[in-house]
Amino acid sequence: MAKASASFTCTECGAVHRKWSGRCDACGAWNAIVEEAPLSVSGPASKSLGGAKGRRIDLTTLATEEAPPPRTLCGMAEFDRVLGGGLVPASAILVGGDPGIGKSTLLLQAVAAFARRGLKCLYISGEEASAQVRMRAARLGLADAPVQLGAETNLRDILTTLEAERPDLVVIDSIQTMWADMVEAAPGSVSQVRAAAHELVTFAKSRGVSVVLVGHVTKEGQIAGPRVVEHMVDTVLYFEGERGHQFRILRAVKNRFGPASEIGVFEMTGGGLAEVANPSALFLSERGQPAPGSAVFAGIEGTRPVLTEIQALVAPSSLASPRRTVVGLDSGRVSTILAVLESRCGIPFAGLDVFLNVAGGLKVLEPAADLALAAALLSAREDVALPPDLVIFGEISLSAALRPVGQAENRLKEAEKLGFSQAILPVGTKVEGSAGMALRKLPDLVTFVGDMFGAG
Ligand SMILES: Nc1ncnc2c1ncn2[C@@H]1O[C@H](COP(=O)(O)OP(=O)(O)OP(=O)(O)O)[C@@H](O)[C@H]1O
Ligand SMILES: [Mg+2]
Ligand SMILES: [Zn+2]
Repeated sequence: MAKASASFTCTECGAVHRKWSGRCDACGAWNAIVEEAPLSVSGPASKSLGGAKGRRIDLTTLATEEAPPPRTLCGMAEFDRVLGGGLVPASAILVGGDPGIGKSTLLLQAVAAFARRGLKCLYISGEEASAQVRMRAARLGLADAPVQLGAETNLRDILTTLEAERPDLVVIDSIQTMWADMVEAAPGSVSQVRAAAHELVTFAKSRGVSVVLVGHVTKEGQIAGPRVVEHMVDTVLYFEGERGHQFRILRAVKNRFGPASEIGVFEMTGGGLAEVANPSALFLSERGQPAPGSAVFAGIEGTRPVLTEIQALVAPSSLASPRRTVVGLDSGRVSTILAVLESRCGIPFAGLDVFLNVAGGLKVLEPAADLALAAALLSAREDVALPPDLVIFGEISLSAALRPVGQAENRLKEAEKLGFSQAILPVGTKVEGSAGMALRKLPDLVTFVGDMFGAG
């Protein structure tokens, strides 16, 4: 057999390349490609399957008499919601996030909550000694929760323990520290992380154990990121937040058992993560006097309306290609809207630095945010504050037309609840009721500019 040559694997997305390059073609990540020994493939998969005698598999119909799986709620409503309404038995969940963002804290709190509700729970730490985890538990007031704790990185030993203990739920913190001895690669490498995740997920499915894998989002090349196991698990959650801010957002980006893009909002306190029941109020809490460059967007995150403040700053630039600094919004969307403002409305941003930000650290990725984004930009550029009781939503097309968006009722109800009394939205948006708000339905961005800022 010819000696298999080494391959080059992207630690961000797991794509395999024939040669090294600085940028991954598959996901666009820079400096993420590393050389890795190939997985040796043996057994039937390496031979031709043509004509081989396999076992005939059992086929069934789509109809089922089985009831939907009983879900368990942990009682942390924000966590339960992001899971799609509680924990599904035998499910595999990935929780990714930046180092130090609070993953271990969140999962220790969640696992303790599930344990107190009667699930048999195990927490395996590959990162910290048991004493360290116990100290965290004491600080969080969880020392008496019936969670069994282990500090181990050897996957074989962990699987043997799980086989003997048969818990309902096990947390593996983190998948990058796990070491499967059947794979000849360093812990944290793409093949190790994949093999360990595969073993754990297979175990979960066959033994009815729910497994939560913690994964660090890493910025430098050698350690595989959580994305390489996303396809193996049922549910992918990312824990996000801004450094220096106490707000944390748990976001479902994939969920086989519930709506994706659902968010849970938490606040990091000395006693751990506290749930934030009304995120809109939180995200708008820093709003002071009406100021130019601020627009309130009535958005939807998952199944819930969330109001956020979009902040823009526009200033003369000394650079040949002016700055476009965007935090919490899709920068491609921002470029598109700048281009639409310039070519359809005759409002140029050339020679101007543009800074855009979502207050509170939420990522707003809905196209419905287009109009609020444009409003913040225009308000900053014209130095005119928008009315403080105004919310805005609507998608902008390349022709500058405003496109209706879904769930208008929900958005308006939330705005009304928070004391807003007027809204600007696209013409053609279906709204029944919402009597308490003055609605202005506009056909296009040009009309909006004329309405808000004079003739543009
Ligand atoms: N004594 C404390 N009081 C208040 N907050 C604390 C305290 N100790 C830690 N924290 C907070 O918890 C955060 C770390 O949380 P945690 O260890 O859960 O994060 P993590 O995502 O698991 O990190 P890692 O990447 O190191 O595993 C710190 O950044 C800090 O904000
Ligand atoms: Mg941790
Ligand atoms: Zn890649």
